[in-house]
Amino acid sequence: MQQNNDTRLSLNDVYQPEYVANPYKLYHRLRKADPVFWDEQLGGWVLTSYNDVVAMLRDPRFSAQRFVTDKEWMPTDMVEALGSPMRALTRQMLFLDPPDHTRLRGLVSKAFTPRVIEGLREHIQQIVDDLLDKALPQGHINLIQEFTYPLPAIVIAEMLGVPPEDREIFFKWTNDFGTILDGGELTQEQLVQAFMGVSEFMDYFRQIIAQRRTQTKDDVIQALITAEEGGSMLSEEELLGNCILLLAAGHGTTTHLLGNGMLALLRNPTQYQLLKEQSDLLQLAVMELLRYDGPVQVTARKAKENLVLRDKKIEAGQNVYAVLGAASHDPAQFADPDRLDIQRAENRHLAFGQGIHYCLGAPLARLEAEIALGALIRRLPAPRIENEAEVEFFPAMIFRGLNELPLTLGS
Ligand code: HEM
Repeated sequence: MQQNNDTRLSLNDVYQPEYVANPYKLYHRLRKADPVFWDEQLGGWVLTSYNDVVAMLRDPRFSAQRFVTDKEWMPTDMVEALGSPMRALTRQMLFLDPPDHTRLRGLVSKAFTPRVIEGLREHIQQIVDDLLDKALPQGHINLIQEFTYPLPAIVIAEMLGVPPEDREIFFKWTNDFGTILDGGELTQEQLVQAFMGVSEFMDYFRQIIAQRRTQTKDDVIQALITAEEGGSMLSEEELLGNCILLLAAGHGTTTHLLGNGMLALLRNPTQYQLLKEQSDLLQLAVMELLRYDGPVQVTARKAKENLVLRDKKIEAGQNVYAVLGAASHDPAQFADPDRLDIQRAENRHLAFGQGIHYCLGAPLARLEAEIALGALIRRLPAPRIENEAEVEFFPAMIFRGLNELPLTLGS
């Protein structure tokens, strides 16, 4: 196996405060050291150039089955309790290859076509207006808690057919799911806790599904149940696993797009002003915010066979990390990549991934972001970050977002 000269550098450094604040500095260092970088600490390859990330995500020689499926870390008395959540997670479409991936995605995608999503426009606008009507008279807004978190949580809960008032409960379970996905170093206790959360998440969906078998409704869960009842199209674990995926993927990411996006605009007042004056730039602005500081920074695959990428020999079974955030800041693809430019026209960013796993919720996320950002820019009177020194991203490798963004409003 070829090694790089710099064995101290690692994608794991994203947890250091300097890179939590700005991971793009680390990505540039990694790309410069080697765009196909052997990461000693992670024991895998790290891709940071646009062309390599696109090529890898489109290459069927890499598998999406990369989940922590080995049970070795589980205490023996927990194997039974944790086996079921483990199996449900491995049956999520995100972690499957064709033909299973094709079958599951085909079933779910009917509920997320651009036409279905466009039909939600007025309703989403109404939710946005209600949230802002409640928050604005107070003279300040905790943007994440009062706006960017509830909005996508309400939208996806309604689409699925889950009571939106339950969002406090599924917030915790979504975090547990995110903890497992993020793949940072966890103690056995933390892993068990996170899997217990997923197990509770499954019990919650089991109850909802049991109600639906007697009382049918017109929503995504019902469509999946019908598919399950129609034969062997969907097993119970596939049904539960993919309900969890849709609920979790459907809100955390959009919350962070809106939070990171508003922060970026407030830190770039000329761009903020431009968007305020020209609302027809909203669609381009959302695409630029996705590129500039997207909520999903990294994904991974496993090599199915020995292969060569650039001049590197990748062995079967090795993990390959595709750094989407680095690809979207590759100077070979984007002019002046670290500059926010909401008029950037040629913007084929990778924030939604690439290839067969390209984000199923992309049209929904874009629509929510356009409506929400449009309303924020129009309605927030002279917003200012309350305390710039206290703005903090949470430390994570895969997801990128803020826990809080308190804003003071003028008159
Ligand atoms: C700004 C918001 C969002 C971002 C940045 C985002 C990003 C991504 C990315 C990068 C992937 C591909 C991961 C990979 O290849 O390993 C993905 C897949 C997926 N996303 Fe999103 N997502 C967002 C919103 C949503 C929403 C609102 C939904 C709602 C349903 C959703 C559902 C999914 C699903 C089901 C997949 C798996 C698709 C498959 O495996 O075929 N996402 N997303």
